[in-house]
Amino acid sequence: MDEVDRVLEGLAELYTGNLREHGPASRSVGWKDESSQRLRFDKLAELVTEDAARAGFTVNDLGCGYGAMFRYLDERFGAGLVHWRGYDISDEMLRAAREFAADPRVELVKSPRLQHRADYSFVSGTFNVKLHAEDDAWRDHVGGTLLHLRDMSRRGFAFNLLSTYVDWRAENLFYGDPLYFFDFCKRNISRRVTLLHDYPLFEWTLLVRTEG
Ligand SMILES: C[S@@+](CC[C@H](N)C(=O)[O-])C[C@H]1O[C@@H](n2cnc3c(N)ncnc32)[C@H](O)[C@@H]1O
Repeated sequence: MDEVDRVLEGLAELYTGNLREHGPASRSVGWKDESSQRLRFDKLAELVTEDAARAGFTVNDLGCGYGAMFRYLDERFGAGLVHWRGYDISDEMLRAAREFAADPRVELVKSPRLQHRADYSFVSGTFNVKLHAEDDAWRDHVGGTLLHLRDMSRRGFAFNLLSTYVDWRAENLFYGDPLYFFDFCKRNISRRVTLLHDYPLFEWTLLVRTEG
C-alpha cells in the first residue's frame, strides 16, 4: 500500500468520525458553516453552461460527502440535472447521502476513482486534508486525479483547493499554489481554464472546460 492509499484510509476514518459527531451537516465535511459550503458550490457550478442546463447534464461528484451538492444542483438547475453520481470512500457518508439525497437521479459509489463518464465532474474539499503525506506526493496525487477527471468529463470539471495565499497553515492540510495548478491544467488538459480566487475564503476554484 503506498502513502496515498494509507492517507485515504485515514481520511475515510476521519470523515466517518466527523459524521458521527455532527450528523449530515456542513461541519461533518470540514466546513465552518452552510453558507461557505454553498459559496463553494456557487463557484464550482459556474462551469455549467446555459446550453448544458437546457439540454440536461450529468454529474460526477468525487468526495460527495453526504450529498449536499446534489441538493444544491437540484435547487439551482431542477430537471436540467439529469443524473448525479456521488463517489466517496466512507461507507457512513454514503449511507448518509442515501437519505439526504434520496432521488431517482442519484447513484452512489464507494470508490476513490470515477467509474463512468459524465458531462461535468466536481470536487469540493476532497483534496484539502493530506494528513501525514508529503506536500510533493500529495501535489502529484492531485495532478494525477486531474488527468483522470479530464478523461471522465465530457464538458469539463471544476475543483477547489486551499490557497498558498494564506497567513496561517495547519500541518495536516494541503495548500495548493493556484499558479502551479492553473499552469498544470492549461498545459496538460485544456486551453480553457478559469481561476476564481476573488471570493472571501482562503481557497480558489479552477474551472476546466474540456469541450470545444
Ligand atoms: C471535505 S469533504 C467534502 C464533501 C462534499 N464535497 C461537500 O462539499 O459537502 C471530503 C469528502 O471526500 C471524501 N474523500 C476524501 N478523499 C476521497 C477520494 N480520494 N475519493 C473519494 N472520496 C474521498 C471524504 O470521505 C469526505 O466525505
